[in-house]
Amino acid sequence: MKVLKDSKALRRALASAGNRGRRVGFVPTMGFLHQGHLSLVRRARRENDIVVASIFVNPLQFGPKEDLDLYPRDFAHDKKLLEHEKTDFLFAPLAEEFYKADFQTSLSVKKLSRPLCGLTRPTHFAGVCTVVLKLLNSVMPDTLYLGQKDYQQFCVIKQLVRDLDFPVKITLMPIVREADGLAMSSRNVRLSLAQRQEAPLLYQSLKDAQRRVKQGPRAWADIKQAIHSRLKGLRHGRIDYVEIVDAQTLESVIEFKAGSRVLAAAAVFFGKTRLIDNVLIKVR
Ligand code: PAF
Repeated sequence: MKVLKDSKALRRALASAGNRGRRVGFVPTMGFLHQGHLSLVRRARRENDIVVASIFVNPLQFGPKEDLDLYPRDFAHDKKLLEHEKTDFLFAPLAEEFYKADFQTSLSVKKLSRPLCGLTRPTHFAGVCTVVLKLLNSVMPDTLYLGQKDYQQFCVIKQLVRDLDFPVKITLMPIVREADGLAMSSRNVRLSLAQRQEAPLLYQSLKDAQRRVKQGPRAWADIKQAIHSRLKGLRHGRIDYVEIVDAQTLESVIEFKAGSRVLAAAAVFFGKTRLIDNVLIKVR
């Protein structure tokens, strides 16, 4: 695996790997890799000739009071994991080089960035869009691999590449969970023992909502309320949001229409650590 620190070097390396006519799969990450990330890399490896992963803790997607400095990092370990998965190129730019001192561009996908995580993190998705477009410009992949845990991010990026005619296919991969159901996240290591023990309730409450929708016609407000009530019982966590939205538009669902797909999503703060999770539900 070749590690490259700037876009020019990456483009040169990809060109000399003879990427013309060869399929390139790309997995963007912020590092501190877990099985969720690795499931994306493995899928990319199966489907492409060349696999590129990136590790870049993107300052633009953190708000001023968020956890940029506390975000966990372990480059040496990540590198080993990616090597083990037979990644061809690891792109790991330095922030001060990736964003030059006079950097001033920002991209935003307006409507899809507003609800859910956008309410507490109003500048987050503009930061994601800006970095993802820069990364795509450097890698020029055929397929981009994203995880369902960040489902809103997937919707926003899908809209971004569609609006800007970027020729890339996006593959969404299922959430990888710990044995007790907690969605894998780089931030999980920051939970205290007590927080970690309570954290699986996030998934349990969403699963419960999924079960209720599948049982038959229900008022959406009751189901949302049921998730809320369970999460209200957290002793170490504080609800940021609980939402049931249309899986395409991310607009609040007023009634469950047969055949539609909805997303039940929630975010909870455990101390300063904010965890998100979701389940996709097909309404029968
Ligand atoms: O999902 C992430 O880890 C990040 O938001 C991404 C897509 C790598 C952009 O920084």
